[in-house]
Amino acid sequence: MLGNGSDELIHLMIQACARQDAPGGTVVLAPTPTFVMYEVFARLDGCRFVGVPLTADFGSMARRCGRRSRSTAGAGVHRLSEQPDRQLLRSGRTGGDPGPGAGLVVIDEAYLPFAQDTWMPQLAERSSLVVLRTLSKLGLAGLRLGYACADPAWIGEFDKLRPPYNVGVLPLAAADFLLDHFQVLQQQAAVIRAERARLLSALRALTGVAPFDSAANFILFRVGEPDRLFAGLCGRGILVKNVSGSHPLLAGCLRVTVARRRKTTRSCKRWGRCRESEEPQDVCAQRADRARNKGDPDPGRGRPGSAG
Ligand SMILES: Cc1ncc(COP(=O)(O)O)c(C=O)c1O
Repeated sequence: MLGNGSDELIHLMIQACARQDAPGGTVVLAPTPTFVMYEVFARLDGCRFVGVPLTADFGSMARRCGRRSRSTAGAGVHRLSEQPDRQLLRSGRTGGDPGPGAGLVVIDEAYLPFAQDTWMPQLAERSSLVVLRTLSKLGLAGLRLGYACADPAWIGEFDKLRPPYNVGVLPLAAADFLLDHFQVLQQQAAVIRAERARLLSALRALTGVAPFDSAANFILFRVGEPDRLFAGLCGRGILVKNVSGSHPLLAGCLRVTVARRRKTTRSCKRWGRCRESEEPQDVCAQRADRARNKGDPDPGRGRPGSAG
């Protein structure tokens, strides 16, 4: 089933599972921190959201999701999980089919081009499985096209809630064209994967920076003074995401998007300058403000080279 972005499909699946009559209501279970719309739509649709804290060991996280699911099964649980942000939930590692009545299991493969591991073959054996994908991470987020693959019985239920003509003819025509040129997108993803490895080694070589492994098109890393580094990088035209305050497990963390080789090289050089100068935080913040007001993140140092 196609959706106006996979966001729409997440919403439709949660709506399809939301049951006010089940004792305890419907539970949406997902590892946290994760893509925020799972919780947003769960709350919008009157479901109870249960976040299972993400750990570095995704195997045990999956087992804990399973335990949580079983312990709430009497409440008519509909279990939604997704591919974790930072690392890969390898296909076939969640510990068996949840079985009838345990609800729906969603494997969100938004980052498939960078993860290259899919649960799609398991659809034939697991009637409760949905594999969700999007074109957004291939640089086509503006197209708004996602798709869900599942047992036809589930798709039939989701389809009852799908708004008429939810996907316009232009995204469909564009998708047709893309299918004819899919190797271009695959090459682009291969470049990003190679750059990810290079950026990861560059980050590992920096003292005081602890990067996590990544199966996505970004790298999460922990530092001692995230706000200060964020402002310093921003002032030098390196846009990263400061996720430090967004969840206790992300304390001290910033997130950098993998760019093309030239940008990565330039950003690494600027990063080195930023660490060498050791400017106090307020000076870094002023630089960032000044640059933002001028619309040029790093005046005097050429064009903005964003790695984020
Ligand atoms: C894990 C994950 N799933 C789904 C989505 C939604 O993608 P779309 O643009 O197709 O709505 C995102 C978007 O960032 C995402 O990170």
